[in-house]
Amino acid sequence: MHTSKDNGTAQLILDGKTYELPVLTGSEGERTIDIRNLLNTTGYTVLDNGFKNSASCTSSITYLDGDKGILRYRGYAIEDLAANCTFVEVAYLLLHNELPTAQELLDFRKLLAEFALLHEDMIHFFDPFPAAASPMSILSVMVNSLVNFYPEMSDNPRENLDTTACRLISKIRTIAAFSYKMSRGEPTVYPRHDLAYCGNFLNMMFDLPVRPYTLLPEVEQVLNKLLILHADHEQNCSTSAVRLVGSSGGSLYASISAGINALAGPLHGGANEAVIHMLEDIHADNNDYMKYINKAKDKHDPFRLSGFGHRVYRTYDPRGTIIRDACDEMLNTLEIQDPLLDIAKNLEEIVLNDSHFVKRNLYPNVDFYSGIIYRALGIPTNMFTVMFALGRLPGWIAQWKEMHEDRNTKIYRPRQLYTGSTHRPFVPMEERG
Ligand code: CMC
Repeated sequence: MHTSKDNGTAQLILDGKTYELPVLTGSEGERTIDIRNLLNTTGYTVLDNGFKNSASCTSSITYLDGDKGILRYRGYAIEDLAANCTFVEVAYLLLHNELPTAQELLDFRKLLAEFALLHEDMIHFFDPFPAAASPMSILSVMVNSLVNFYPEMSDNPRENLDTTACRLISKIRTIAAFSYKMSRGEPTVYPRHDLAYCGNFLNMMFDLPVRPYTLLPEVEQVLNKLLILHADHEQNCSTSAVRLVGSSGGSLYASISAGINALAGPLHGGANEAVIHMLEDIHADNNDYMKYINKAKDKHDPFRLSGFGHRVYRTYDPRGTIIRDACDEMLNTLEIQDPLLDIAKNLEEIVLNDSHFVKRNLYPNVDFYSGIIYRALGIPTNMFTVMFALGRLPGWIAQWKEMHEDRNTKIYRPRQLYTGSTHRPFVPMEERG
């Protein structure tokens, strides 16, 4: 890790007393004030709603510069990875810190193929869910249940992490495809050893006994790209949930299940579904963009433009740029005319030229165009966030692993500023009301 302490100190004056707080510098020059001993030395805590200003850990996995729109995994630019790698290579990179050699990739693929099946008993777990059940809730339940079938992580978490990581990355795709098939009342399609990761998933989703699925290389490629672009994003809400549960000693499966639930929210991964609903609403409203623009500006209306804005980016989300280009290319290749693409582009133009949104640095994020590609591939809207989870999984695991290897890890336990009643005498039942 490249943190440096030689950057002087920040002075904090409290009650007339001066405290020197160390300043740390990350490998890309970003600076942070180390307040780890603040409470002990001063008796004060800090208040930081939503952790807007706080680094919860040090990490060497993903670098993100929100002002310049830079995103790198393990030092490699997201643009290079998306253009040149498969998702499995990037998963390996996140987990092992290096891109795999040809042999390492072959071994990793073999393990993924080996672990692709679900224990047959688990298949019955899908039965009681109603057909309209949310695929994200099914996914979190199933991932959480894996611990009972594959308990090796509880016995020796460190030693077995690589195996469990492969198991999870492989099985999550089978779970996702099976839940789709069950929701449609179609026969499940088992994973095949001869297909690569994304091709296998698409085949499990769309192959039918009456109509075998034809896997197009362009489709496989674009799915690889999408999953790569979602594979990690430093300490976002779901990753923090994974770390938080893991910090208590919770199993990897339980931690990932928590991450899936955090991701499902519409302000996070669930935004990719919300975008499509919003674009459909605009379409149904005869493209009345201003109705939605005005709602988004109205302080008294909770409505937000889904797919716009980001906690860290103050410019175009670099993932959004790649996805927008991929979206144009995919629709051309498949000769699909989706009216939602035009609506999305028009909405983007209006937002980028409106001073209200410009002042707030609102640009399209990763979720704005991804759904239009998923639609073109035949993936239903309620599965979009599941696709996000498939992509994010290697990042979650890498972050969980890093946390456990870090000697400075503590159980996540934030403080609060209490604003409730001060002590008051107990009121017996007969005197209440
Ligand atoms: N539409 C309209 N106004 C917005 C939006 C939006 N999408 N996003 C932020 N704003 C406004 C917000 O009203 C506030 O205005 P004001 O200063 O007048 O009160 C200002 O911009 C700052 O917003 P914030 O809520 O303080 O920003 P945040 O960093 O807490 O929230 C966000 C980040 C992503 C939750 C938010 O931008 C948002 O709700 N976006 C829509 C949902 C979305 O697309 N989420 C996906 C994020 S990217 C992928 C992922 O992480 O999953």
